[in-house]
Amino acid sequence: MNRSFISVVITNQPLAVSGYFTLTVSVDSNMPIPMPGQFCMIKIPYSLDPILGRPLCVFDFEQGLMTFLVRIMGRGTALLSKLTAGDKVSILGPLGNGFPIVKNSQLPIIVVGGMGIASLYMFIKKYGASALFYGAKTASELIFLDDIKKNCDNLFISTDDGSAGVKGGILDSLERYIAAINSNRLIYCCGPHGMYKAMAERFDRTGLDITVSLEERMACGIGGCLGCVTKTNSNTYSRVCKEGPVFKLNSISFG
Ligand SMILES: Cc1cc2nc3c(=O)[nH]c(=O)nc-3n(C[C@H](O)[C@H](O)[C@H](O)COP(=O)(O)OP(=O)(O)OC[C@H]3O[C@@H](n4cnc5c(N)ncnc54)[C@H](O)[C@@H]3O)c2cc1C
Ligand code: FES
Repeated sequence: MNRSFISVVITNQPLAVSGYFTLTVSVDSNMPIPMPGQFCMIKIPYSLDPILGRPLCVFDFEQGLMTFLVRIMGRGTALLSKLTAGDKVSILGPLGNGFPIVKNSQLPIIVVGGMGIASLYMFIKKYGASALFYGAKTASELIFLDDIKKNCDNLFISTDDGSAGVKGGILDSLERYIAAINSNRLIYCCGPHGMYKAMAERFDRTGLDITVSLEERMACGIGGCLGCVTKTNSNTYSRVCKEGPVFKLNSISFG
């Protein structure tokens, strides 16, 4: 199935928080519909600067348009931030496995750390969550919070500096919530690697079914270069772009 397309930039919208923007592009009618948590490799077409595409989650997808939420990290994302309406982008995707879709009665608890919202926004918007835990360093980095509030009543906010919600890490709130309920054992999560390590330590032996989206530097995005492997608990390696980026937390080795 062809997954390589040239799209046209519809809007490039800087966000209130510096260094972040949304890029909305047209979607080729032959492009498979992305699952929440899938990603695309994106680059400026016919350019060697940079040579390789950059992996970005599909943040939103509707009415023939696809949106990416981007934080400027280096050359590739800085160049994308300068695109304007009518410019072309080369898209390879959607790639990877994405978060499993579940029945309404079994909606997961969703845990988001900072930019992890890029991976789970579409899931929250389409399906909601039984509870949503959203943490960031500071209030301005709780991106798209107003939109998210509309889609989830049971929302728990935390910030490292206490500028919104509870002061501290989101896992403290999650742990208290888990202790108080005994029904929902399914958690979907996207956040920094350190957060996954802390979750693996805290929630080991609790019987929670935790699914996370991993991030590794990627070259090909389609399983060919082995540049993105992560070590698993069975002492093998999995390609984050092909077997992932979504994995069971208890399958990942943090050793
Ligand atoms: C599956 C997947 C989905 C992603 N989705 C998004 C998204 O929706 N929005 C978004 O803004 N970003 C996302 N990222 C991260 C994004 O791909 C990188 O920030 C981007 O490739 C950096 O490219 P650059 O040329 O701007 O920076 P570079 O010049 O390549 O790197 C700048 C700095 O960032 C570091 N860096 C680059 N990539 C990563 C990475 N993957 N993990 C940790 N550090 C890194 C480098 O080591 C370097 O220090 C995703 C990554 C993956 C693997
Ligand atoms: S990026 Fe090449 S195998 Fe994953």
